[in-house]
Amino acid sequence: MNYFKLSIILGVVLSVYYYLDTYVLPTLYIFDTEVLHGIVKESIAVAPPENTTALFYEINSRLRDVYGDNITPYNTEDWMFNNAGNAMGSMFIHHASISEYLIFFGTAIGTEGHTGVHMANDYFYILKGEQWVHDLGDPDPIIYKPGDLHVLKRGSVQQYSMPTTCFALELAQGWIPAMLPFGFADTVFSTLDFGTFAKTVYFTAKRMTESMLRGKF
Ligand SMILES: *[C@@H]1O[C@H](CO)[C@@H](O)[C@H](O)[C@H]1NC(C)=O
Repeated sequence: MNYFKLSIILGVVLSVYYYLDTYVLPTLYIFDTEVLHGIVKESIAVAPPENTTALFYEINSRLRDVYGDNITPYNTEDWMFNNAGNAMGSMFIHHASISEYLIFFGTAIGTEGHTGVHMANDYFYILKGEQWVHDLGDPDPIIYKPGDLHVLKRGSVQQYSMPTTCFALELAQGWIPAMLPFGFADTVFSTLDFGTFAKTVYFTAKRMTESMLRGKF
């Protein structure tokens, strides 16, 4: 084995990765975290109280006002279950591309698990209920309520729970394909729910392809 050639190749690969990660990836983002926070807060204020479905429609229509066809129109059929990090909930995909995804995520009855370690920043806007978070070294739960934003920085880890009914709008910005193994591991090694697996692959691939065809990566 020629170690000189190997180290040259490794150097080139790492440099390309560093360049893409630092200079290209951030230019691909279209979603503004402040704009999303505004949409969430305004929607909570105007949607009929105690009707989460109406809130979902309200948020989706405001997202479409700002981001157009980058957002799939909301419908109640395109939800799918999601098992990841030992937590179980369901999700609706508004948008997916190489650098971003925007989904509703939550559960009607509560769940608890590991956030996963991701190559993406995660923005979790609470719509209904509460998300509880355990930060290492802090013996008290951090509690996020409707209208609050919980930011999980790339590479960080927490334990989280939704003690009972809780739904959120979640934005991830970073290397989205690198998050997919975490999103599928519980299905492949635990639930063996291949119907959900197929639905998730179908909708993720569909949204990503639609984004690419619009030139959004
Ligand atoms: C909640 O809102 C949805 C969507 O606007 C509507 O179809 C449904 O009838 C509402 N439910 C109740 C109980 O008002």
